[in-house]
Amino acid sequence: MNDLSRLFAAHQPAVEAAALETLRSGWWLNGPRMKSFADRFAEYLGVSICIPVANGTDALELALRAVSNQRGPGAEIVTVANAGGYTTTACRQVGLVPVYADIEVCSQLLAIESAVAGLSEHTAAVVATHLYGNTIDVPALRSAMDAAGYKHVAIIEDCAQSHGASIGATKAGALGDLATFSFYPTKNLGAMGDGGAVATNDPTLADTIRRLQQYGWRTKYEIRLAGGRNSRMDEIQAAILEAMLPHLDAQNAERQQILDRYSLVAKEQVRFIARRDGSIVHLAVALCADRQGFRKFLAERNIASDIHYPILDPDQAGWSGLPMRESSSGLKASRDSVARILSLPCFPGMTDGEVDRVCSAIVDWKA
Ligand SMILES: Cc1ncc(COP(=O)(O)O)c(C=O)c1O
Repeated sequence: MNDLSRLFAAHQPAVEAAALETLRSGWWLNGPRMKSFADRFAEYLGVSICIPVANGTDALELALRAVSNQRGPGAEIVTVANAGGYTTTACRQVGLVPVYADIEVCSQLLAIESAVAGLSEHTAAVVATHLYGNTIDVPALRSAMDAAGYKHVAIIEDCAQSHGASIGATKAGALGDLATFSFYPTKNLGAMGDGGAVATNDPTLADTIRRLQQYGWRTKYEIRLAGGRNSRMDEIQAAILEAMLPHLDAQNAERQQILDRYSLVAKEQVRFIARRDGSIVHLAVALCADRQGFRKFLAERNIASDIHYPILDPDQAGWSGLPMRESSSGLKASRDSVARILSLPCFPGMTDGEVDRVCSAIVDWKA
């Protein structure tokens, strides 16, 4: 599905120099590279503040804690059920109750009406996940929430799969109150290890997150906030991410070209999900009439495939019996889609020959 050694080979001198300089500096945590990457990434997103953290799930947990701090236990978070469970994992850490809204089948993104139907007096935030690089219309979500009387409810964008996406001139990550990023190696901007970040224009929320990220300290060793923990991005990852950031848009264009070629040969039995204006491509995801048959056909031709994601959050056995609820609109579209989605290989460095092979398989497949 991905070959990260190709990415390393394409950027080896810059990545090696960044890592070696960091090691030689003797400064491996909380240093100048973390600050420098934070500034560069904030500038790229068009936000005033970026706080690097250890990974994308921590970023979600810290963001959720920051917006729900005043709410007490049992506060609710409206989100989707089809995005891999990361928001639910973070909710469980904080003691928040996930409320699952449905998706639109064509884009596989949060359906705004269903999100609004899930809001209640207990809602602390809506997590809008820009899944597969496809951008949710956050301004439209904000207007619908405001019109329904939920102006005070925060929107957190989960941008783990949407580095570089935008709506109009505004980047994903600058559309809501807070945004969270993962720099897991296969992401559009990936570290060579773990990494994550929270981005915002709100200095008060940023201050809370910085404290929560460092044990709840106000000043060194002085704890003023409960719920703190340790979540840091190390200097080597920050230096590598800063070296890779200038290549993000070109690598997004490569993924886009691959998906464009697949889409050209797509047909009713293998239909790629609709992309919104300003979206980027993270994964090439199709809805398949006979997924199992197509996967078998691909495997016979030595073509990898995967499912993102095979189990909806409310159906995960590990969370059964824990507090959760569904939006009153139900989860019909999420349930219909989970049996049909399939991801095909799509990563920077894929050769034309490899893309051709996938295209031929799509053309030759008869359900
Ligand atoms: C949509 C989404 N949110 C959150 C995460 C969590 O990021 P991490 O693996 O860095 O904790 C991921 C990726 O793994 C993701 O795809």
